Amino acid sequence: MKNPLVIANWKMKLGSAEALALAKKISKSSAKFGGAEVVLCPSFTELAAVSDIMRESGIRVGAQNCFWEEQGAFTGEVSPKQLLAHSITTVLVGHSERRAHLDESSEMIHKKIRMLLSLGLRPVLCVGEQFDDRAEGQKEVVLLKQLHDALNGLWLTDACQLVVAYEPVWVIGSGQDIDPNEIEHTHQVIEQTLYDLFSHQAVDEHVKIIYGGSVDPENVGRYIAQPTVDGVLVGTASLDATQFFAIVAGALKA
Ligand code: PGA
Repeated sequence: MKNPLVIANWKMKLGSAEALALAKKISKSSAKFGGAEVVLCPSFTELAAVSDIMRESGIRVGAQNCFWEEQGAFTGEVSPKQLLAHSITTVLVGHSERRAHLDESSEMIHKKIRMLLSLGLRPVLCVGEQFDDRAEGQKEVVLLKQLHDALNGLWLTDACQLVVAYEPVWVIGSGQDIDPNEIEHTHQVIEQTLYDLFSHQAVDEHVKIIYGGSVDPENVGRYIAQPTVDGVLVGTASLDATQFFAIVAGALKA
């Protein structure tokens, strides 16, 4: 049996009162989460309050982004050190929405991951192809490039933890299921690329590969049952407590 990692990405979708109400509902049911590691990623404005709510629950809180320097004149940015002060150690990096809307470049993503690893935080590197890449047979080329650009030249020491989230961009927010065998195949390509970049031992001990893209209570079991799927990154379905509980339960059962 796996101890699945289930990360909720609330994006910029909840007002403050809604986010806190959802956090309270989730915290009350945390006993049901058993062997799963659950991480909630609210907006920065709710990070401290959600962390307080989760304090005794065993559920962790993560951030949707951070900057690549520890401190300085970077208006509007939040540093990994500021996150650490709130015991936030998991940080999404390079989500496709940031790549698309904010022109987040491979260089920025690389610098963020380097800084997070050096401070002992856990980056969740999001990679994924566009629909056209897949249609043109370029999916693996795109993923290899994203992984190399983000991770080349970095080391995974014993203190490091890294998560790679494979999120096909065309599936995000679409409500589409994808063939679990295709996910497994793609995860194997990602795993092999990681073996090429780091040692086998470092990858086996310090890296998780999770899947994201319209994960719901119905498809999660099929996805998590794949040998190389260590968990899921959930957007839309994480905004509803009942659906989110069902996803965690489905992940635990698989
Ligand atoms: P989705 O979002 O579950 O709504 O597809 C996933 C994500 O963007 O991380």
